[in-house]
Amino acid sequence: MTGPARPRVFVSRIIPDAGLRPVVEATEADVWPDELPPSRDELLRRVAGKDGLLALLTDPVDGELLDAAGPQLRVVSNFAVGFDNIDVPECTRRGIAVGNTPGVLTETTADLAFALLMAAARRLPEGYDYVRAGNWKTWGPMLLLGQDVHGSTLGIVGFGRIGREMARRAAGFGMRVLYYDVHRASAEDEAQLAARGVAFEELLAESDFVSLHTNLSPETRHLLDRAAFERMKPDAILVNTSRGPVVDHDALFEALRNGTIGGAALDVTDPEPLPADHPLLTLPNCLVVPHVASASVATRDRMAQMAAANLLAGLRGERLPDCVNPEVYEDR
Ligand code: DGY
Repeated sequence: MTGPARPRVFVSRIIPDAGLRPVVEATEADVWPDELPPSRDELLRRVAGKDGLLALLTDPVDGELLDAAGPQLRVVSNFAVGFDNIDVPECTRRGIAVGNTPGVLTETTADLAFALLMAAARRLPEGYDYVRAGNWKTWGPMLLLGQDVHGSTLGIVGFGRIGREMARRAAGFGMRVLYYDVHRASAEDEAQLAARGVAFEELLAESDFVSLHTNLSPETRHLLDRAAFERMKPDAILVNTSRGPVVDHDALFEALRNGTIGGAALDVTDPEPLPADHPLLTLPNCLVVPHVASASVATRDRMAQMAAANLLAGLRGERLPDCVNPEVYEDR
């Protein structure tokens, strides 16, 4: 793509060079330079007249944005595997292909979920704070007692790619693995992953750790609510690396404060970012990190390459290598 006909694109944040370079080389790219996302007004202004949009999960892509962009917009490439920030049916209706980055972040995300699980089980943030505050005076027989990970039961909610990687990690620690998913895994997969599909209620009642790996949809919003917490064991730990709104955060705060459950370790929150004065951050048994599950150098490079490949394919009028709305090609 050279010369005056170069397509115009908006890239809503600086992404790793592995993806940014090919986009800048092939297009007339307007790249948002700041660490913080563009405001809504700025986003609407910047997309106007663009042929392609490389979006982040912080950019709501809805009818208003598509109107602001104009009818020439051909492709929206999301720099994420999740695409709940995008009104996909609306894009499809307008013939706009939507891309995402599946597969490349599966293991990196499961690594972080397992790290959160272990950190919460063994109270690492509390230990770190304790040492830094100068409170470490002696070895203590009762100091910061946590829970064993080995031999415990892990309940995985959402048994897709990342959930299954979580099961593989759990096997290394001799954990018993239960899962809940609307789609039951094959008997072969269950045997290979040593995981047993159970009802949601059974998973909650049986698990020492509950790890969320579902997408966000109307069905999964507030899946973990007060009733769900009441079914869990009093020392159970909730791990969330999926999407914040899968958990009712008011109910979570109550459950953690009242001892309905033992702890939580969250990579994702509702809202995001979680304000520094949020009640959850006053609780010693709640560990929060800033949505970094896919944040390894190698994985973010691969995500950038995939996002660029989707964007450029869409601009050339080709099928996106990773398209979330393949139905957009049906009437062509
Ligand atoms: C995703 O890709 O959906 C993650 O939440 C960020 O990598």
